[in-house]
Amino acid sequence: MSPTFRIAPSILSADFARLGEEVRCVIAAGADWVHFDVMDNHYVPNLTFGPMVCQALKPHAKKPDGTPVPIDVHLMIQPVDALAAGFADAGADLISFHPEASGHVHRSVQAIKARGIKAGVVFNPATPLDVLDWVIDDIDLILIMSVNPGFGGQSFIDSALRKIEAARRRIEATGRDIRLEVDGGIKTDNIRRVADAGADTFVAGSAIFGQPDYQGVIDAMRAELAR
Ligand code: DX5
Ligand code: ZN
Repeated sequence: MSPTFRIAPSILSADFARLGEEVRCVIAAGADWVHFDVMDNHYVPNLTFGPMVCQALKPHAKKPDGTPVPIDVHLMIQPVDALAAGFADAGADLISFHPEASGHVHRSVQAIKARGIKAGVVFNPATPLDVLDWVIDDIDLILIMSVNPGFGGQSFIDSALRKIEAARRRIEATGRDIRLEVDGGIKTDNIRRVADAGADTFVAGSAIFGQPDYQGVIDAMRAELAR
């Protein structure tokens, strides 16, 4: 069965002076999810936005016909739980966090799911997948970083492909519906390779918001995925 691919543009590379409009434009251009990169200048050396910005953008996260578009929150923060709750209140549909940043990974997953939203765990380029042994039956999403977190516009790290393959095998073994998302350095010219490794959900920041024609890029990515 061929997977249903999702493209999740990251607003990290959007124009922060016009974020509502940017969210609406990228959805009109075909975005399936909108990816929010939350950075705290502690877990990563950069600082972006918190739940108030998510709450302000929530009304913009819908298609022109009014259908809601999921907000995919990627927390690069330490500690995790208080702000995860804040993003749940602010309208996040999925929340992922880095296991290194939580003192109690299982508890953080349960706390997110208790809010009725989907939970994911994120793996840095040099972080092994071992924690999945203990939480894979509880999560909805695995996010594989193909750059070190903190900045947009970095180059794809090839070892992520092996990690995607390994994560895909673990997902197949559960038989559960778990999204396998990849984040960092995704472009039209490598998205097919990343899909071939087993990913079904693709974050792209600079490749989309860095270009004048968002729809042109998203269409080109989908054409690669359909090959
Ligand atoms: C990095 C972020 C990524 C990043 C992707 O910390 O998690 O989402 O914005 O940006 P590009 O697509 O530019 O590599
Ligand atoms: Zn991200």
